[in-house]
Amino acid sequence: KDDSITKQGQQQMINVAHRGASAHAPENTMAAFQKGVDMKSDYIEIDVQMTKDGELVVIHDTTVDRTTNGTGPVGDLTLEEIRRLDAGSWFSEEFTGEKIPAFEEVLDAFRGKVGILIELKSPELYPGIEEQVAEALKERNMNLPNNEKIIIQSFNHDSMKRSKAFLQAIPHGVLAGMSWSDVTDEQLAAFATYADYFNPNQNIVTPDLIDRVHAVDMQIMPYTSRSQEQADRLFHLGVDGIITDYPEHVYDHPVKKGA
Ligand code: G3P
Ligand code: CA
Repeated sequence: KDDSITKQGQQQMINVAHRGASAHAPENTMAAFQKGVDMKSDYIEIDVQMTKDGELVVIHDTTVDRTTNGTGPVGDLTLEEIRRLDAGSWFSEEFTGEKIPAFEEVLDAFRGKVGILIELKSPELYPGIEEQVAEALKERNMNLPNNEKIIIQSFNHDSMKRSKAFLQAIPHGVLAGMSWSDVTDEQLAAFATYADYFNPNQNIVTPDLIDRVHAVDMQIMPYTSRSQEQADRLFHLGVDGIITDYPEHVYDHPVKKGA
C-alpha cells in the first residue's frame, strides 16, 4: 500500500480511443467507434483518406490489404468498391460485415456523443483533402467554436497549416514520430502558431518535453499506449491525454502527494 496516495485530487486525463477501441473491435469501424463511446472515451481517433472518386473514407493503411478482404491502394478504389469490402472478419468472425466507414457517416453518427480526433493520413497522396474535410465540417456547422469536440491532426505539418487556414476555430495537432526526439524550442514555437496539440510517439516523452510543450501553450497527447504500464507512465509524467487501443487503461488516477 502506498500511503503517499491521496484520493483528494483526481487528475483529469483525456482518454482517446485509437482508431476506436481498437483492442476490442476492428480498427476504424463503426463497431470500434461505438465501443470507444461505450467505454467512456473522451475522443475517438479516426484516420481519413480519399477514394479514387474523391470520397472521404476512414482507414489507417494506404492500402486495404491488411484490414479487409480486398487488395490495392485506397486511392485506386472507388467508394462503391471500398464499401463492398469486409473490414471486420480479419479481426474476428463476430465482426464479419463491418464496412470501411465514410468520413461523413462517422461525423453524423458520433457528433455530440464523443469527441472526434481526425487524423489526415498521408494527405500528400490526396491533394485538396484539407478543403474537403473542412467542407464536410462546415456543412454541419461543425467548424464553429461550440461544444462539439473536434481536433484535426497529421504527421504532415504543411497539411495542418493548410487545414488551419480553412478551419480557424478548430484546434489542430502536429503528430511527431521518433525523429522528433530532439525537437527544439524554436520548432515548438513555430508549431504553436497554427497548432494546439503536439502529439508525439510515447517513446520520446520526457518531463522536459512536456514542460517545453506547455511553455508554448500547447497540449500533449502521446500515442499509442497498448499496456497498463505505458498508460501509467504517461499519466505520472503529466501528459494532457493518452491515445490508446485500450480505453480501460486510462482513468482518473489518484494524484500522489507532492508529485
Ligand atoms: O493518433 C496518433 C496515431 O494514430 C498516429 O499513428 O499510425 O496509428 O495513425 P497511427
Ligand atoms: Ca491515426
